[in-house]
Amino acid sequence: MIWTLKLITLAFLLLLGGQYNTFALQDVTADLFGPGNFGTVAAFGDFNSDKQTDIFTIKEQSDLVIFLADSKPPYFKPKVQAKNILGKDITSVVPGDYDGDSQMDVLLTAKNGPKTEVFIFWGHNQTLGTALIVIYLQIAVTPEVQFYVVFKFFGCFITLASLRTEVCSKALSLTGNMRTPHSNAFIDLDRDFTAGNKASQQPCVQSEFVALRCNVLCMFLADGDGYQDHLLPACLDTSCQRSTIYLAKSGSRDSKWIPVLSDFKRKETIWGFVPDNLSQPPALHLGDYNLDGFPDALVVLQNKSGSGQQAFLLENVPCNSETCHSVGRMFHIHWDQSDLGAIKNAVRATFFDIYEDGILDMLVQSKAEGKQDLRIHALKNNFEADAYFVKVMVLSGLCSNDCPEGPFGVNQPGPYVMYTTVDSNGYLKNASAGQLSQSAYFSLQLPYTVLGLGRSANFLDHLFVGIPRQPGETEIRNKEWTAIIPNSQLIVMPFPHDTPRSWSAKLYLTPSNSVLLTAIALIGVCVFILVIIGILHWQEKKADDREKRQEAHRFHFDAM
Ligand SMILES: *[C@@H]1O[C@H](CO)[C@@H](O)[C@H](O)[C@H]1NC(C)=O
Ligand SMILES: *[C@@H]1O[C@H](CO)[C@@H](O)[C@H](O)[C@H]1NC(C)=O
Ligand SMILES: *[C@@H]1O[C@H](CO)[C@@H](O)[C@H](O)[C@H]1NC(C)=O
Ligand SMILES: *[C@@H]1O[C@H](CO)[C@@H](O)[C@H](O)[C@H]1NC(C)=O
Repeated sequence: MIWTLKLITLAFLLLLGGQYNTFALQDVTADLFGPGNFGTVAAFGDFNSDKQTDIFTIKEQSDLVIFLADSKPPYFKPKVQAKNILGKDITSVVPGDYDGDSQMDVLLTAKNGPKTEVFIFWGHNQTLGTALIVIYLQIAVTPEVQFYVVFKFFGCFITLASLRTEVCSKALSLTGNMRTPHSNAFIDLDRDFTAGNKASQQPCVQSEFVALRCNVLCMFLADGDGYQDHLLPACLDTSCQRSTIYLAKSGSRDSKWIPVLSDFKRKETIWGFVPDNLSQPPALHLGDYNLDGFPDALVVLQNKSGSGQQAFLLENVPCNSETCHSVGRMFHIHWDQSDLGAIKNAVRATFFDIYEDGILDMLVQSKAEGKQDLRIHALKNNFEADAYFVKVMVLSGLCSNDCPEGPFGVNQPGPYVMYTTVDSNGYLKNASAGQLSQSAYFSLQLPYTVLGLGRSANFLDHLFVGIPRQPGETEIRNKEWTAIIPNSQLIVMPFPHDTPRSWSAKLYLTPSNSVLLTAIALIGVCVFILVIIGILHWQEKKADDREKRQEAHRFHFDAM
């Protein structure tokens, strides 16, 4: 008996020990795409309104192929294919609902000499539709989509009314021309739950005095104060021999650019960003892969001592050097990630939640020998630790026809999500994120936000969701939800937009691995106890029988 108990204790310990902090990647490309894993991943969005994120790709420069999420492998099937849709090369893809009919439209851009042409395909019943609008712009840009049926091209809002005609009005109080490449974003910097345009608030962002070349800007949460900070990957010379990532805190006017990563040397090899290219500046792709509440990044670096490009994971860790002291965080490069190292000639790497389980996995794209299209690699993040998350998706909350489950809608750019809670040590913890704040230069932002909660399994005290208001409006559009269960997915439907009180949210629970293990352990314990009870019962019954027999025997004896 004691021996069995020991064995069970051992099994228990193994179970508990097994789920402790392991980080490994697993190549699941075949599972996801089958043999069709070629093409440039251009954007993510829910094209067929099934709440699963679909992948928009460009094949052979001019074909648009949309991989729709499916429940059977391969999990992404190229269901929508438009060959040579523009008659020329596609330079970017931005899905969004531009006419407010709650159907996903697709905006494409193409080059026409020095001009950029913009095409919008009015999505209809999960097809690309036929009607299109063509706008010629004088400058070469990629658009940033805005909330509602409005999007903006440098100082000009182009409003697409339901008639699908464009109206141009001045929106930004910006002097001077925008740079190319630009680093525009549409995000809430001062926590008033209204996305503002970055460039209008801090002109230093297109910072010539920081870097020789202008690079793409990212936003992330550095120090847990709930504000979005600015991140700038920069090259200090034209060939990026010396690369640095800078951070500037938002909020203060005189914010300085502080280096959070400048040591790119590994043994004898010096690494650096891939030199700036007007159509493809260096970019960081952000995501919280270890759910600690601090966004990490994926970046592609070039071997400056020789040749070759590789994707690296940058982990957001507490600052341990003098230079980053004032911001408290820095990046640490995972040099020995063998699964990322195995992908030669990587071009782009981004986070993506492959199985919609709240853990961010990775998509890496690489140049393939003898092929024009990029090869797509899907790496599943087998990160297992007792860390928790909450995944929030804010939809447009617009619906014009057949919405059986209420006014759903498609993914929207511009919403802002923030939580405040008490962590396991009793300290206040804040985190925030913007949804779809950038869309240019293949920024590959996800149409949802995954906020890591660290190791606190408590209910999330307060979760705030805000959407941008229309220009001129003063009322803040935000709503608070309390006591959110960790490891859940919240789908927020802000309908109607101007009455936050009546917004609704659907909560989906993701049974995590530890829940499953706990269930198995519980069932095991129950079975074990049942067996013990059974054995004891049987023994007692046996003893009873023996006693009865003895009594009967005694009776016989007495009778004689
Ligand atoms: C949408 O498309 C599906 C299949 O292509 C078709 O069965 C359905 O009738 C269409 N619905 C509308 C409203 O056009
Ligand atoms: C988190 O936000 C709350 C409310 O906005 C604020 O009172 C608190 O000081 C913040 N905590 C930290 C650590 O910044
Ligand atoms: C810049 O990008 C374009 C298109 O992707 C490519 O043709 C060109 O060779 C690149 N230039 C450099 C210097 O890498
Ligand atoms: C970088 O390139 C040099 C020269 O080709 C090579 O010796 C070195 O091993 C490379 N470094 C890595 C980490 O691949």
